[in-house]
Amino acid sequence: MVPFKNVYVPTKKFTRDFSLSSNPFGPSPRVKQALMQALSGSDSLLSPYPETGYPALLQAIADFHRVCPEQIILGAGLDGLIFDTINALLGPDDELVLPAVTFENALYAAIAQGARVQQVPMKSDFSVDFDQLIKSINPKTKIVFLCNPNNPTGIYEPLTSIVRLLESTQAFVVLDEANIEFSGGSAISLIERFPHFMVLRTFSKAYGLAGIRVGYGISRSPLLKKTASARPPFFISTLSAIAAQEALLDQDYVHSVVEKIIHERTFLERELNVLGFTVIPSQSNTVLCRIPSSIASASCLIEQLNRYDFHVVNGTHFNLPDCYVRIAPKVHEANEQLLGALRHILGK
Ligand SMILES: Cc1ncc(COP(=O)(O)O)c(C=O)c1O
Repeated sequence: MVPFKNVYVPTKKFTRDFSLSSNPFGPSPRVKQALMQALSGSDSLLSPYPETGYPALLQAIADFHRVCPEQIILGAGLDGLIFDTINALLGPDDELVLPAVTFENALYAAIAQGARVQQVPMKSDFSVDFDQLIKSINPKTKIVFLCNPNNPTGIYEPLTSIVRLLESTQAFVVLDEANIEFSGGSAISLIERFPHFMVLRTFSKAYGLAGIRVGYGISRSPLLKKTASARPPFFISTLSAIAAQEALLDQDYVHSVVEKIIHERTFLERELNVLGFTVIPSQSNTVLCRIPSSIASASCLIEQLNRYDFHVVNGTHFNLPDCYVRIAPKVHEANEQLLGALRHILGK
């Protein structure tokens, strides 16, 4: 039995917090304009309940991905959808299978449901061991959960591996693509071939809208309806829906921001290597690295960083030993400041 732990959220405020990966460049300016316009209208959008089913946002997402609105489920962030899905579909007799080192929310949602959990060890390079994952699936397995690119490793798994997994099982495969804009191709096109497959996406990362809490899932499975009917009807606000819809329309902005974040990530990876960190090459918007052997533990390093008012997340939150940290790149100046603090701590 996996012991219950809480999902990682910062418990203290730090001026320079590199622990959570929100977009440091913020959303498209069009989002602010749309919100101002919505608020300045004579018929306030604040008093009425949101329109049932958020049809405008659903249609915008459907058009963007070229799927039917019926194949989309909205949620209060991607996290919200993970919990909604697991709460609706997993009971104490069911099992969740997932890699041992991954985004932890599905694990905690399953534990809260009293479901069984199988965490499948990673390969030595931290990639997902698809052979073992497939072998671990058994008649009790109701959901297989994966992140691509994975969090915290930043490793992108090729779609051929996802297809192999989908071909091997009838369990519901849930693929978290929260950070897909920073790496290779999305698996969304596979939903046509595999009805037992769902891809989850979010406005929190590339779109710079973590504060509005909007995510969505795309699938052909009837489990979408089952999930939707097991929760209240209004779970995102009218203003959040407007913000998400507008953000989706400004793809030029998204592409430019993604480029900048990848540039900063590459810069951090290079400089961390120079400082003696062992960096796992990332295709996401975070960098996982092993600390230099001169530092006793990641906890010690974080304690020292906290004294400088910096914060990064300890790999222990992701089931890793206490010698890994995950760093989310910020704007260039902040990244330079973090490197400066690390140089100071390391005496370099
Ligand atoms: C892989 C992954 N999934 C989900 C989330 C949470 O997304 P949201 O803000 O939409 O709940 C994150 C955020 O760190 C993430 O990295």
